[in-house]
Amino acid sequence: MTRRVTKAIFPVAGMGTRFLPATKSVPKEIMTLVDRPLIQYAIDEARAAGIEDFIFVTSKGKSALEDYFDTSPELEATLERKGKDDLLGALRATNMESGAISYMRQNEALGLGHAVWCARKLLGDEPFAVILPDDVIAADTPCLEQMVDAHEGTGGSMVAAMEVPEAATSSYGILDLAEGDPDARARKVRGMVEKPAPGTAPSRLAVIGRYILTPAVMRHLDEKKAGAGGEIQLTDAIAREIDGPEGVHSFRFEGQRFDCGSKAGFLQATVAFGLQRPDLRDELRGFLHDVIAMEEAAE
Ligand code: UTP
Repeated sequence: MTRRVTKAIFPVAGMGTRFLPATKSVPKEIMTLVDRPLIQYAIDEARAAGIEDFIFVTSKGKSALEDYFDTSPELEATLERKGKDDLLGALRATNMESGAISYMRQNEALGLGHAVWCARKLLGDEPFAVILPDDVIAADTPCLEQMVDAHEGTGGSMVAAMEVPEAATSSYGILDLAEGDPDARARKVRGMVEKPAPGTAPSRLAVIGRYILTPAVMRHLDEKKAGAGGEIQLTDAIAREIDGPEGVHSFRFEGQRFDCGSKAGFLQATVAFGLQRPDLRDELRGFLHDVIAMEEAAE
């Protein structure tokens, strides 16, 4: 029987250079999408999937991220006294059980594979999830929950996948799928390549930031071989499991993914999530409509 996934690693040790100068002092994961930091979306998704242990791989300059998870008894008392029940509810929903979060330090940014490897001592002999908070996914059933359900049937390792334009394949890990039902959400993988050179990608199916991995992948990371860009690539370690006993599956999730590690993606997510909010929707829609009309008139 496949073991239930209860541990998740959140690699957040990257430098976030695409958001400089903001990330000089604000960790990217604390940047706010409507009224919640990116990391809160990732935590909520993990909780919905049944995750109980939250492992953050951090680096220098991320203390604001660690502080975010402290409870705020004074703030709670003030809101309670003022009868601000909605805000109090929103605040309390972010409280984490003591001991549920651990922090591991990545002393050198040697790549995503290396960041995941830094959490090795906190994992047992069981499958674990990896969530990249930069990838925010709007979905009726949270993406990791969809994957955990599918993983019960497949076992092995699983990567979230979505189609990207041909021109974008060189920015992702790209999958080569084995024969099988083209409409199935979970499909067996027969090859994967990190950031293929333009024109050499085996497909347009890209790996995005949700994974369920086996202890065998962690053992491959132990060898710490540098791959594309001189970094220790998670894709390379997962690829070594393709011919293993349980194999690797891709999972085409239901939902919309926003690349909040890029400025354009962050802006798009802000608009999309704003439009989903009943308290903001009408005002934002009116504003967008007017701005676009003004832009068009000026052309
Ligand atoms: P990115 O490639 O988006 O890098 O990493 P970054 O440093 O966050 O951002 P830019 O490119 O400089 O703007 C993807 C994820 O992997 C983590 C990052 O924190 C992010 O969540 N990561 C990356 C690490 O934890 N350690 C690394 O060595 C590299």
